[in-house]
Amino acid sequence: MNKGLRVITFEGVTKRYPDGTVAVDNLSLDVPDGSVTVFVGPSGCGKTTSLRMINRMIDATEGRIRLDGRDVKEIEPATLRRGIGYVIQQAGLFPHRRIVDNVATVPYLLGWDKKKARARAMELLERVGLDVKLAERYPFQLSGGQQQRVGVARALAADPPVLLMDEPFSAVDPIVRMSLQDELLRLQSELHKTIVFVTHDIDEAIKLGDRVAVMRVGGRLAQLSDPATLLRDPADDFVREFLGRDRGIRRLSFIPARSVRLSPPPADLVVEDGRPVGWQSGDGLQPYGSFDPETDSLRAALDAMLLSPNGLAVAVDGHGKVLGVAARDALDAALPGAADG
Ligand SMILES: Nc1ncnc2c1ncn2[C@@H]1O[C@H](COP(=O)(O)OP(=O)(O)OP(=O)(O)O)[C@@H](O)[C@H]1O
Ligand SMILES: [Mg+2]
Repeated sequence: MNKGLRVITFEGVTKRYPDGTVAVDNLSLDVPDGSVTVFVGPSGCGKTTSLRMINRMIDATEGRIRLDGRDVKEIEPATLRRGIGYVIQQAGLFPHRRIVDNVATVPYLLGWDKKKARARAMELLERVGLDVKLAERYPFQLSGGQQQRVGVARALAADPPVLLMDEPFSAVDPIVRMSLQDELLRLQSELHKTIVFVTHDIDEAIKLGDRVAVMRVGGRLAQLSDPATLLRDPADDFVREFLGRDRGIRRLSFIPARSVRLSPPPADLVVEDGRPVGWQSGDGLQPYGSFDPETDSLRAALDAMLLSPNGLAVAVDGHGKVLGVAARDALDAALPGAADG
């Protein structure tokens, strides 16, 4: 259903609130079909305003937003929102409705019969990783993380092609937050929705975004790039500062460890059945760090170096057998541009 509405295009969009505040200033960008575009930036930079202009909870002052070429202002808001799921911080569930009925909200509005709507809701609860036994509870009987999952399930209930998510995971603790992020990536790999995700957390943006739009206060787009490009090549000082001091290290996550040159393992690496056991030292065995060059990134290789007392990362294959070791200079040499630099 609604298979047509997918690509979102901002064309010179400005939002000026009645008091004169310019929340979004001449924003132009495309949100491609089936991908996750993250809007990230400091508080007040116009992220929520940008998001809400897509489903017309807020109307643009100037410019145009198109859904697959069609100006959203020409689409009746109720029709528009049927094709757009919306998830907000703290889930925004109806407190006096059971979980199953919260999830079935849009199907009920669409006039589905109750049995079909509830069956769909149960299927979605499973899909977002919730125990279906929670279906008969009320929102206050769920943890914050569970409520956020219900919020995602509710947004997906009518199978909308577009999903808008406004800081959906920011009210939960870091561990739950990471599992919600992983769950969203897993869901997205099956569903291929067109997702606009808002956060002020650059790590979340880099983890979730196929593309990241960094905004600055005043509602201006500072940079729109895929995460690896953003980390490698920030457009200006504002973006560089926003990415933080550990930009260099995080960048390593996007570079495969395959090209790290390996050396033969030294004699003090203790190996049994081809597998590493530890580093022999005067006081006994010391722990080692390992990485798999076929599947890991340079970040994992660096972690492995830091775990070993002598700074050598042990490279292992898919069966855990030693392939060799890598030192810091091998990692440096594997960085793109190192050869010609
Ligand atoms: N109804 C309003 N009237 C006047 N100004 C508003 C209104 N709503 C938002 N603003 C202002 O517009 C700017 C952008 O607000 P917006 O909510 O889009 O920011 P945000 O990036 O989502 O911030 P946060 O990260 O804090 O959620 C802010 O300066 C805000 O104060
Ligand atoms: Mg906001």
